[in-house]
Amino acid sequence: MASDDLIDLEPAVADLEAEAVAGLTAARKTLPCKLFYDQRGAELFEAICELPEYYLTRVEASILRTSMDEIVAHIGPQVQLIEPGSGAGTKTRLLLSALEDPVSYVPIDISKEHLRDVAARIRADYPDLEVQAVCADFSQAIPAPPTSRPARRRIVFFPGSTIGNFEADDARAFLGRMADLAGPGGGLLIGFDRAKDPAVLEAAYDDSAGVTAEFNTNALHRLNAEAGADFALEHFEHLARWNPEYQRIEMHLRSLVDQVVHLGAHEITFAAGETIHTECCHKYGPEGVAGLTDRFDVVATWTDPEERFGIQFLEVRAP
Ligand code: TRP
Repeated sequence: MASDDLIDLEPAVADLEAEAVAGLTAARKTLPCKLFYDQRGAELFEAICELPEYYLTRVEASILRTSMDEIVAHIGPQVQLIEPGSGAGTKTRLLLSALEDPVSYVPIDISKEHLRDVAARIRADYPDLEVQAVCADFSQAIPAPPTSRPARRRIVFFPGSTIGNFEADDARAFLGRMADLAGPGGGLLIGFDRAKDPAVLEAAYDDSAGVTAEFNTNALHRLNAEAGADFALEHFEHLARWNPEYQRIEMHLRSLVDQVVHLGAHEITFAAGETIHTECCHKYGPEGVAGLTDRFDVVATWTDPEERFGIQFLEVRAP
C-alpha cells in the first residue's frame, strides 16, 4: 500500500466518473466537491485564500496567533497531528511551531502532487518531525499510521471551515470518523465560519477577479480531462448565493444555453438556466460544531473581535 514516500489510499478514477454520472443524472444535478481538488484546483484555492473578499483564511490565522498559548496548553506535548485535506501549510506551521515536541504530522489529501509538495516542505522545515503523508479521500475511513516514537495522543486539525462543505448528515458521519481516527483521549481542533451579512458572504464566494469562478469551473475541466466528458466551459457560469433556510452559501454552475453533454456512454441534457450544485459552505453560530456531533465534547471556543470566524477544541467523549 505504501508507494515511495506516501501511503496510497487514492480512489480509482472510475469512482469519480461513476459519482459524476450519478450526480448529473439526478433530478437536481450535483457534482462531488472533491472534483475541485486536483493540482490546479489546489493552486486556485491557494489564490482564493489571498483574495481581498475571502476573509476566512486571514481571520482564522489571526485567531490562531492570538489564542495559540491557550490552544497548545489544551493539546499538550508529544502528539500525532493529523490534518485531513492539508492546505498550503501556513496554519499548520503556526500550530507545529507552537506545539511542544510534536511526534508526527499526518497530512491527508486527495491530490498526490499537492500532498508530496506539502510533505516535502514540512520535512525540510521540521527535520525532527516524522511526516506520514496519506493520499486518500477523507470521506472514507482512514487508519492512523503508527508512529516511530510513541505519541501521547492524536489530534485532528481541521481548519478552514471545511466542515461546512459537508451536508449535515455527512458532517456528522465525518466527525464520527474523526473521533475514531483520534481515538480515546484524542482531540479535534476545528475552524468554522460564522453566519453574517449575506452580502459579505456572497462576495467571499464570488470575487471580482473571478478566481472562485475558475475554481468552480475546474470541476468540469477535470471531467473533460480525466473522464472523457465534453463540457463547453464557456456555456456555464459561476453562481454563489446565500440560502437562509440552511444557513449556507451554495455554489452552482449555471447552463447558459440548452445543451447536451457527453460523459462516458451517458448523454446529459441541460436546459438554459439549469444549474449543477457543486458546493455548500455552511455557516455557524457561536456554538460552532457542537450541535453536529455527540462523539466529542467542546473544551474551548475562540473567536476574533468581530466574531467573523470561530475555532474550537473538542475532546473525544468516552463511550
Ligand atoms: N471550506 C472553505 C469555505 O467553505 C473553503 C472552500 C471550500 C471554498 N470550497 C470552496 C472556497 C469553494 C471557495 C469556493 O469557504
